[in-house]
Amino acid sequence: MHKILAKKQLSPNVTRLDVLAPRIAEIKQPGQFVIVRAQEGGERIPLTIADADPAKGTIALVIQAVGKSTRELVALEVCDAIRDVSGPLGHPTELIASGRALCIGGGVGTAVVHPIAKALHAKGVQVTSVIGGRAKEWVIFEDDLQKCGDVIVCTDDGSHGRKGFVTDAAKEVLTAGGIDIVYAVGPVPMMRAVANLTRPFGVHTVVSLNPVMVDGTGMCGGCRVEVGGETKFACVDGPEFDGHKVDFDLLADRLQTYREFEQRANACADGQCRIRR
Ligand code: NAD
Ligand code: FES
Repeated sequence: MHKILAKKQLSPNVTRLDVLAPRIAEIKQPGQFVIVRAQEGGERIPLTIADADPAKGTIALVIQAVGKSTRELVALEVCDAIRDVSGPLGHPTELIASGRALCIGGGVGTAVVHPIAKALHAKGVQVTSVIGGRAKEWVIFEDDLQKCGDVIVCTDDGSHGRKGFVTDAAKEVLTAGGIDIVYAVGPVPMMRAVANLTRPFGVHTVVSLNPVMVDGTGMCGGCRVEVGGETKFACVDGPEFDGHKVDFDLLADRLQTYREFEQRANACADGQCRIRR
């Protein structure tokens, strides 16, 4: 059992839980994730480790409440416990040792970018972060990223920072020159747009993929993606890949596959089991 020591609402549907998991806090590296089960028999949910405090033995999990299981998870309160936390899973981020990095976070994906920017900053890499949300209340991790370097905030409606998508600001940073690598995490259309943007600049672009995961061990095949024409499993081969080689259309299609099941689970959780096969 993993006790929840702190809970914070980061945006209208994004919650941070600081959870006791001392061994994971000690060994986790940026880019890695855990799979959690809120209770016995519950759905397995993959979540990035957004931060860790080895001294307190805690890891920070950032959860977007989009389905039945994630809503159950964010309903937990301080002093409640999460049944299982497995990890750290996946390959750590390949960090450059020097130079200049552009870290791009879209919406809840900004929580995934944070540990990468933090680790790069600790190595002495110059970090510029471009983060975005639909509106001011959807922008997360702004203060944390400011501790790692320059931050450009974008909102779709212009209510905070610049008006526009993260790709608009990222284009200006790339055009100014000097960027050695780009790390981008967010919704699939954003990561695809970033990969298309950076390709003509010839800047290596790392994206973190979020296909449906079940076991997290490479055995179920649920998280398969296509990278450079080869099948890869995001849980064991990723979750980070070369953005210029990812088949984003296939990823978007596969993410749609489970939408109906999710709608049905949501309707049942609301006591409205009217969706039938
Ligand atoms: P969102 O849809 O509100 O978008 C956040 C920001 O991303 C926007 O403000 C904009 O700046 C940028 N963006 C979105 N679409 C874009 C496009 N077509 N071109 C350029 N920029 C674009 O984001 P959200 O609701 O927080 O994100 C939800 C999605 O992110 C979910 O589908 C979730 O599965 C995914 N997600 C991905 C990861 C990952 O590891 N890749 C992690 C968490 C969540
Ligand atoms: Fe099952 Fe990756 S989650 S193979």
